[in-house]
Amino acid sequence: MPVRTTAALERDFERFGREWPRDFTDLVRAEYRVDLSARYLGEAIPHPIGKGSGQLSLNEGQLEEDARAGLAFVVLKTLIAEDATGARAMAAWAIHETRMAVERRPSADGRPGWTVTWKGRGWDRSLSDYLALVRAGRDLTRGGRLLVVPSVKYHLPRLDESFREAEYRHTTAVLAGAWSEPPLLVEKDFSPTLAGDALADDRAQILRWLQEVPPQIRAASPMPVRIAVKLMNARFDDAFQVEMMRATRGADTLVCFNRLFDSKLGLAYGGWDLSDRNLRVLDLYRPLPPSTALSSLSGTGNITSGRMLLEYARRGCESVQLHTFFQLPLSEYAATQGSRTARVLHALVFHPREGLIAGLLELEADGELERRGGELHFLDVTHRAHRQR
Ligand SMILES: Cc1cc2nc3c(=O)[nH]c(=O)nc-3n(C[C@H](O)[C@H](O)[C@H](O)COP(=O)(O)O)c2cc1C
Repeated sequence: MPVRTTAALERDFERFGREWPRDFTDLVRAEYRVDLSARYLGEAIPHPIGKGSGQLSLNEGQLEEDARAGLAFVVLKTLIAEDATGARAMAAWAIHETRMAVERRPSADGRPGWTVTWKGRGWDRSLSDYLALVRAGRDLTRGGRLLVVPSVKYHLPRLDESFREAEYRHTTAVLAGAWSEPPLLVEKDFSPTLAGDALADDRAQILRWLQEVPPQIRAASPMPVRIAVKLMNARFDDAFQVEMMRATRGADTLVCFNRLFDSKLGLAYGGWDLSDRNLRVLDLYRPLPPSTALSSLSGTGNITSGRMLLEYARRGCESVQLHTFFQLPLSEYAATQGSRTARVLHALVFHPREGLIAGLLELEADGELERRGGELHFLDVTHRAHRQR
C-alpha cells in the first residue's frame, strides 16, 4: 500500500475513533476511491456490515442507534410462528432468559477468541409487540436509514408429520400487514439449539425442511416475499453442510452459518472454530455466477475484522451479519467514543492493517482486484469468487 494511503488510514483511524463521522461510506469513496456497496436479500446496501438476529435487535432504541451509526442492515430477533389462536408448535423456542455472558473461548487449536454464552432462544414477548418493532423497522427502511428484516422460526415437522400451514399463514400474513408494501423480506432461522435437538438427528428430516420450508413461506405470503434461510451448523460433516446448501429450494439468500452447538455443555458457541468451519464449507461449495445463482450468500460467524469479512466475501458472501463483536467489553475497541455499533464499524472499516479498506487495497496490490472507473468495488470481490471457480 502506498505510504501516503497508510498515513491517511492511520490518521482517519485515529480521528474517527474520537468522533465517528456521518455517511462514512461517502467519505471512503471520496478519499480512497473505494465503493463499499453491497447486497442483502437482493436489496442494495451502502456497505456489507449488518447485525445478525439476536439480543441486540429487540427494541426500537437499538434500531435507532444502529441507524445513527450507519449500520447497513439489522435482522430482528427471531419470532416463533403462531396460528390465529396463538398456538405455537415451536413454543419450546420462546423461552425467557436475560443473562448473557461474554466470554473468551479458545478454538480447538488454542487461538483465543470470544463467544457469548446464553441459554435463551426466540422472541419471548407477544406477537403484537413484535409487529410494533417490525413497523418501526419498516419506517427506518422506507426512510433509507437502515434496512430492517424480521426473522421467524416456523414449524418444522418430523418426517411423518405435515407442516402446520396455519402457523405459516397467520404469521406471514401479519408480518406482511405490518410491512405493508411488497416485497416482504423475511429471514428463516434454523438455530443451533435446533441443531442440538433430537429433531435434527435425522439427515433426511433436515433436507426435507430445506426443500419445503421456503415454498411453504412463499405459499403463505399474501404478497411477494424474499426469503433468506439462515442455515444451522448441523452436527454432521462438512459434506452434509454443503448438501444442505444445495438442498435448500426457493431461498433468495442463504445465511452461512449459525453458531456451533456444544452438546456436552448444551450451549451454542462461536469464535475461531465457527469461522474455520464456515469458511471450510464455503470453500467446498461452488457458488454459481450471480446471474444464474439461485441464492446469494450472506456470511455470519466470528467476524471481528475487515480481513475476516473479506474471507467471507472471497467465498461469495455479499454481506455479513455480526453479533458477538458488538458485545465485547468497551476496552476491546480502539475507538474511545461513540456507540458500540460505531466502534465496531470503526474497527472493521478503518483499521490501518486489519480493516476493510486496508484489505481491499492489499487485494489490489496483489493483483486480485482491479479498479473499474478508477474505483475498487467491494462486490467485485464476491464476483471474483464466482469467476475463479
Ligand atoms: C446471544 C445470542 C442470541 C442469538 N439469537 C439469535 C436468534 O434469535 N436468531 C438467529 O437467527 N440467530 C441468533 N443468534 C446468532 C447470531 O445472529 C449470529 O449469526 C451468530 O452468533 C454468529 O455471529 P457472531 O460470531 O458474530 O456472533 C444469536 C447469537 C447470540 C450470541
